[in-house]
Amino acid sequence: MDNQSQWKSSTGFILASAGSAIGLGAMWKFPYMAGIYGGGAFLIMFLLFTIIVGLPLLIMEFAVGKMGQTYTTRIYGKLTNKKWLNVIGWNGNLAVFILFGFYSVIGGWIIIYMVEVFQQLIGIKPPGLDHIKFEEVITDPALTIIGQGLFIFITMGIVMLGVEKGLEKASKIMMPLLFIFLIIIVAKSLTLEGAMSGLRYILEPRVKDISVKGTLFALGQSFFTLSLGTTGMITYASYASKEMTIKTSALSIVVMNIIVSLLAGLAIFPATEAFGFKPTDGPGLLFKVLPQVFNQMSLGSVFYFIFLILFLFAALTSSISLLELNVSNFTKNNNDHRKPVAIIASILVFLISIPATLSFGSLNGFRIFGLTLFDCMDFVVSNILMPLGALGTTLVVGQLLDKDALKVSFGKDRFNLFRPWYYLVKYILPLVIIIVFIMQLI
Ligand code: PHE
Repeated sequence: MDNQSQWKSSTGFILASAGSAIGLGAMWKFPYMAGIYGGGAFLIMFLLFTIIVGLPLLIMEFAVGKMGQTYTTRIYGKLTNKKWLNVIGWNGNLAVFILFGFYSVIGGWIIIYMVEVFQQLIGIKPPGLDHIKFEEVITDPALTIIGQGLFIFITMGIVMLGVEKGLEKASKIMMPLLFIFLIIIVAKSLTLEGAMSGLRYILEPRVKDISVKGTLFALGQSFFTLSLGTTGMITYASYASKEMTIKTSALSIVVMNIIVSLLAGLAIFPATEAFGFKPTDGPGLLFKVLPQVFNQMSLGSVFYFIFLILFLFAALTSSISLLELNVSNFTKNNNDHRKPVAIIASILVFLISIPATLSFGSLNGFRIFGLTLFDCMDFVVSNILMPLGALGTTLVVGQLLDKDALKVSFGKDRFNLFRPWYYLVKYILPLVIIIVFIMQLI
């Protein structure tokens, strides 16, 4: 018997899985990816992939977790009696390990910005958010390494103390607040000079801007925001009670993710032109544009500081799930070794995150296939390990699991959705993932 803790209500499950899914992916990564790969063209591909591929896959991962009820390096063997299939769980483990590494770089930037703004608020630094120079911040090795170290340390503390539940409760307030803040930023951005061309850039689906590369990255983005293929969502569903409804949970997570991604896009693109930035500015886009938008508001620094707290919170509810996944797999859900495992995993993550951070500064010239180390880690996770993990799970679900048992896990089926979902997962989605994968290698 696994020492598997359970949520009593499905609210706990939704809060935790939504907290894990909604984070830097929607707010930081979506705008910068969309900016590089054609704005509206990217948005359309992202929406299509998220709804047609992402949603069924998320339902699939929830179904597997609900059926298997154990940690993910054991669940595939348990469900199929083929131990070697646990390799899919290990693939997910590796994915979240690397993901946490580069996630913490961005988490570190948020902390550095918070300290910076705080110093302004208490009068140590001159006021005005336009003083924060993004390039100076991210190329400072000591500062960035301390920032990411702190981000990892806070994540580790939360996981070690087991206070995730408190955080989930807090997210009932923090997440709606974040929504409100995003809407305020959107409203402000839309009043700025050049707003309309930015708005058109992100909303108009110009066919000529659709590229093979953009399409591949749009799929990767869907995987990233929905945490697919890492078995993270399988883990959450494995803790949930048998009664939880996987379809509505999956749908609400997909919808929330789309809304946050869209809001982030609408907050950033209308404001880029007014401050002389370009949509193609890359990973720094959000960090460059938003302070300028807040700078136009009265009490801008105060509001920006609150926004950073909410942003950090969203990032932390994701990073704790990244660490938690490694911890639950290595402790086999037995809490006796929780603390040392969390500490060792965090130290290792810290070590691999250092080259990722330095790739914005001193290691910027070091490239693999033209990608910086940070981009490489992101590519390996979002475009290789996540799709591979999802592919493995579709094959297990479509070819090896009992259809009737799956149907039970799928739950009440008022609209007869089981059959189309099952055939999609069994025949079409594996093909889509394989095709995209091969195109990528070419
Ligand atoms: N989906 C999270 C985000 O968008 C990242 C994540 C991936 C979290 C995999 C957990 C597992 O920020």
